[in-house]
Amino acid sequence: MNSTLAIVLVTFLFAAVTAAPQPYQGRPEDPEPSITVTTCGGYLDASSASIEFQLGGSIRADMRCVWIVQAPYSMQRFNLVSSGLKETDELYITTVSAAGLGNSEKLDTLGQNITLQGRTAMITLVVGHSPTLGFRMEYYASGSTEVQIIKSHTILTTAKGNLSYPFDGGNYLNNERALFPIAPSVPGHPTLRFTRVDLELGSSCQFDSIRIYNWFDWRYLQVAIFCENTIPTSVTFQDGAGVVFFSSDSSVAKTGFDFQYE
Ligand SMILES: *[C@@H]1O[C@H](CO)[C@@H](O)[C@H](O)[C@H]1NC(C)=O
Ligand SMILES: *[C@@H]1O[C@H](CO)[C@@H](O)[C@H](O)[C@H]1NC(C)=O
Repeated sequence: MNSTLAIVLVTFLFAAVTAAPQPYQGRPEDPEPSITVTTCGGYLDASSASIEFQLGGSIRADMRCVWIVQAPYSMQRFNLVSSGLKETDELYITTVSAAGLGNSEKLDTLGQNITLQGRTAMITLVVGHSPTLGFRMEYYASGSTEVQIIKSHTILTTAKGNLSYPFDGGNYLNNERALFPIAPSVPGHPTLRFTRVDLELGSSCQFDSIRIYNWFDWRYLQVAIFCENTIPTSVTFQDGAGVVFFSSDSSVAKTGFDFQYE
């Protein structure tokens, strides 16, 4: 190697070292929402989104909508951008972890940020007893890449319906979680009934379990946890929304469950 080449090489290496990026600190927020959603409810599998529901239009009294957010990163920021919602309407962000539903926080001031740890959350719109106006909110995920918690989901929006899990029969898997919000788009007070339950036995359902949450008093209140072959008493969602959450552990998988509501 001649000396000129050596100097060029040393200079180049020095430049490469000084230009090296800062230590990896996780993914930043997207500069703009990557997708736009305009439906009442939905499943959002994106690093950011703009949720615009009836923006500039009206929303019927007693409307319920649930969006499931499953972002790829560890932290999420929810922000209210524009809103015609009234004081009697509620827009809540609920954390979802492997252990079920957590706290709900109200998003009601323009510009307000609600920041959560964890990649999964639910957004619930609960309109009061009179018509209201639409809104736009956004969320942005950032931070480290996280493992997906929820394997399966269905958002039930018809006035009545039923569901069997696993969807394709057979046994459920180990270490899986499934989330089934029930929020009929026609206002009502649906009653949920399980007709079949076949889960691993556990004295306090500590291995595999089904939890029922009832939207009440501005939060998802856990009203039942069961397993084995226990058929729980029926639950009426007096405020028009609820959630079924299924969770299994690392061994013993059975055939799951059936429920219906109307
Ligand atoms: C919400 O977060 C964004 C981005 O970090 C920031 O620019 C904005 O000022 C925050 N709003 C409030 C009210 O703190
Ligand atoms: C379950 O729902 C399907 C439509 O999704 C319907 O055809 C069927 O009759 C329902 N079964 C019961 C037992 O309600």
